[in-house]
Amino acid sequence: MYSEKVMDHFKNPRNVGEIENASGVGTVGNAKCGDIMRIFLDIDADGIIKDVKFKTFGCGAAVATSSMATELVKGKTIQEALQVTNKAVMEALDGLPPVKVHCSLLAEEAIHAALWDYAEKNGIKIEGLKKPVNDISEEEEEEEY
Ligand code: FES
Repeated sequence: MYSEKVMDHFKNPRNVGEIENASGVGTVGNAKCGDIMRIFLDIDADGIIKDVKFKTFGCGAAVATSSMATELVKGKTIQEALQVTNKAVMEALDGLPPVKVHCSLLAEEAIHAALWDYAEKNGIKIEGLKKPVNDISEEEEEEEY
């Protein structure tokens, strides 16, 4: 039911972890299953994504799609990273079962949330980037844990 690439990224996920003093951090919740994903971005002065890490409380498909998404945005410009949609990630993984498509949204939304955080911290506007709807970073900060 899962492609070999999905299984590979699930078993050996790339870029798991966190980045201290990240340029941007995005945390999103999945509207469908309630799972959570956090993405850390390290962006240099030229707007290149030097490093990216993720942490998730999502399922295997969320792990695999996030792993692939981080591989796809690493070394890219912000504008290129915006093109890494959940569809692009699924294609790179040779597809996902239809019931798991919502899991792939977590990675895309968390990357957008992290870029949004980066833009806010630096007082800039990123062309084509909208405020992420499932961003839960603020709620979390209020909870203080
Ligand atoms: Fe929640 Fe896959 S079931 S991320």
